[in-house]
Amino acid sequence: MHNIVIYICFTETLSEVKLVSKYIINGGNKLGGKLNINGAKNAVLPILAASVINGKENVIIGYPNLRDVNTMVKILRSIGCKVQKTPESIVINSENVNSFEVSENLVREMRSSIFLMGPMLGRCGKIKISYPGGCEIGPRPIDLHLKGLREMGVKISEAHGFLECTVEKLKGSEIHLDYPSVGATENIMLAAVLAEGTTVIRNAAKEPEIVDLQDFLTGMGAKIQGAGTSVIQIDGVKNLTGVEHKIIPDRIVAGTILASAAITKSEIIIENVIADHLVSVLAKLKEVGCIVLEKNSAIKIIPPSVLKSVDIIRTLPYPGFPTDMQAQFVSLLSIAKGTSIITETVFENRFKHIEELIRMGARIKVDGRVAVIKGVPKLTGAKVTAKDLRGGAALVIAGLAAEGRTIVENIVHIERGYDNLDIMLQNLGADIRKID
Ligand code: UD1
Repeated sequence: MHNIVIYICFTETLSEVKLVSKYIINGGNKLGGKLNINGAKNAVLPILAASVINGKENVIIGYPNLRDVNTMVKILRSIGCKVQKTPESIVINSENVNSFEVSENLVREMRSSIFLMGPMLGRCGKIKISYPGGCEIGPRPIDLHLKGLREMGVKISEAHGFLECTVEKLKGSEIHLDYPSVGATENIMLAAVLAEGTTVIRNAAKEPEIVDLQDFLTGMGAKIQGAGTSVIQIDGVKNLTGVEHKIIPDRIVAGTILASAAITKSEIIIENVIADHLVSVLAKLKEVGCIVLEKNSAIKIIPPSVLKSVDIIRTLPYPGFPTDMQAQFVSLLSIAKGTSIITETVFENRFKHIEELIRMGARIKVDGRVAVIKGVPKLTGAKVTAKDLRGGAALVIAGLAAEGRTIVENIVHIERGYDNLDIMLQNLGADIRKID
């Protein structure tokens, strides 16, 4: 009894600690200098899951140190992988995968655990995983993942909140995705690597993270071509080797830092970026009046003294404007001269940051999936709450430019996608500190 009481107190304290973590930002500082961009969260998560597929030792370098990465490491260990994590690399040995069930708690902690479905079915022919629910940005169905896997011969039963998937031998198949879903494209690619015969994914998502996954898999001997286009072909193979792979830079972190520079009218340089991955974001930064210079793997941004509004931004699958940059642009456009319109077409519930920005003086009206932003001359610091990952980053950006002090609460969301955002911004000269 005594132990139980102690345990409950401990968990309550932990969740309290998470809730009170906040950023305190004193707005108005100019930023300057250079920042190196780390590996992409959305590339490393499917790649870590993919390490299960070959039963060998894989080395992943240039990864971001995020909670989701640690959760994926926990999941890999829980199914029998040996994982060593150092600041430079994650080494995964997947020789002894001995469990086919992913704990419900870990799936709840991180949706990306569903990336284990494809690799586990290819390697072991079965997996039991709890059904991932929706999240802060709205419903997140996985029907396209399941449809693709069923077409490859997988039997899937859904009961009591769990998905039990089994297959004797995966069969290559022609799969047409009704929507170019990033996750579904990746899960099907992963399942197809060891399948019998050829799989063709049509209307595949074209995101750079999918190309990175292809590079990782071909590095271990998979036969895949077409990632980055809407048709991906995977010829099943029987044997795979170990691989060493460097994760691509995070285009969303890069875009967030560029938006921070633009809103504070500061010249900065970001290094270790692939400008091609940021084309739609750079186009909109130019539209608001920024000069953007690209050289090798660096981007320099020179913002105007007054930002201009943009007629329209529509979030779309890549190479369209990323939904993961929508919130940061709402902040930016809230102090641009004129009226801007942003339409969110990818996720339903992705405007939660707007009510917080309004508390900081922004003039924004939302009608369904459309936000109309009337630029104001300045924002004012306020106490605001991060409700989701990118929306939270948008509030930090707004705080950098706002007059006075902004307190962003509930930053646990932000930390899911940014490896020490406060330190990155401090290094550029921002007055931001984290309070636990
Ligand atoms: C990935 C990214 C996320 C990004 C998103 C869109 C990772 C870990 N996450 O998420 O940061 O915001 O791409 O670029 O890479 N859909 C279905 N059925 C499905 C799957 C998706 O209807 O089976 C719908 C979704 O509800 C959404 C749209 O397709 O409306 C896009 O989702 P998807 O591309 O799958 O996003 P994720 O892979 O979840």
